[in-house]
Amino acid sequence: MSNTFMTKATAIIVGASSLLSQEIAKKLASQGVKLALFAQDPNSLSDLATSLPTEVSLHQLDIADPQSVIASLEQVWQSLGGAHLVLVNTGLNSYDAALPWQPEQDIITVNVQGFSAVCNTAFKLFADQGYGQLAAINSIAGLRGGPSVAYHASKAFASNYLEGLSMHAQRLKLPITITDIQLGLLDKAAMQKSRLWLSPPAEVANQVVSAMEKGKRKVYVTKRWRLVAWLTKLLPEFIYNTRHWRTKAERQAEKAAKKQQQ
Ligand SMILES: NC(=O)c1ccc[n+]([C@@H]2O[C@H](COP(=O)([O-])OP(=O)(O)OC[C@H]3O[C@@H](n4cnc5c(N)ncnc54)[C@H](OP(=O)(O)O)[C@@H]3O)[C@@H](O)[C@H]2O)c1
Repeated sequence: MSNTFMTKATAIIVGASSLLSQEIAKKLASQGVKLALFAQDPNSLSDLATSLPTEVSLHQLDIADPQSVIASLEQVWQSLGGAHLVLVNTGLNSYDAALPWQPEQDIITVNVQGFSAVCNTAFKLFADQGYGQLAAINSIAGLRGGPSVAYHASKAFASNYLEGLSMHAQRLKLPITITDIQLGLLDKAAMQKSRLWLSPPAEVANQVVSAMEKGKRKVYVTKRWRLVAWLTKLLPEFIYNTRHWRTKAERQAEKAAKKQQQ
């Protein structure tokens, strides 16, 4: 998608309250893209909406209720007269070593059920329209299992779901682009800017928009995470596994505790 194309475009962002979504919204609006933003609390985005140079509408997102997601997406789609891009950026993550069920269920509800409802609906709307781009902010956490068990698994689900949709678009011979944006770590705190592997949201947003404009099928953002992804896939489980469990400080504390017991 070239910039000229984007100037005539309309984009729907689902999960617009996240910092990254807001940076992407700013970038798209600066290119003249009309926006429809979905968030749990749309009123919280009023200031952002009024600050943007293009037409912006705000909508309620109840991602835990698929029927409500489908109905509101379809309704907004009608009112916009279609869209060129749907960007999905909803996600839930948590870690509790005791693995209580409720957080696992919540992650599955948002990252699997809600994600599928949005992508399925967007795909069918694009199919009726005859073209479009579905992009999703995903995570390299989906490459392997991990301590945040449901989260890692949900990100693998998202990747496979997107790959399936891409294959389906080809089967239907429809110009629908599916873009899987594999995010590494995103620096939400400006203070952490100097840390090597973390990237500020504005830089991440630039790379996301650029990848969408190029119609990429899958992209690692920021680019350096491609190497981490490659290594992650390559490592045998006995190496991959141990790197997560204990930091050096934790290992030293454990050693000291053992010595004390002796
Ligand atoms: N942060 C990172 O370092 C990182 C790294 C890799 C991948 N990612 C991926 O990036 C995506 C966004 O993550 P983030 O870190 O930007 O998280 P975030 O700031 O917490 O944003 C998550 C988004 O999901 C929405 N959401 C969560 N639960 C919801 C619910 N029940 N109903 C409606 N909306 C809900 C949030 O809306 P509300 O604010 O209204 O709850 C928010 O817009 C996720 O897919 C994540 O896997 C992030």
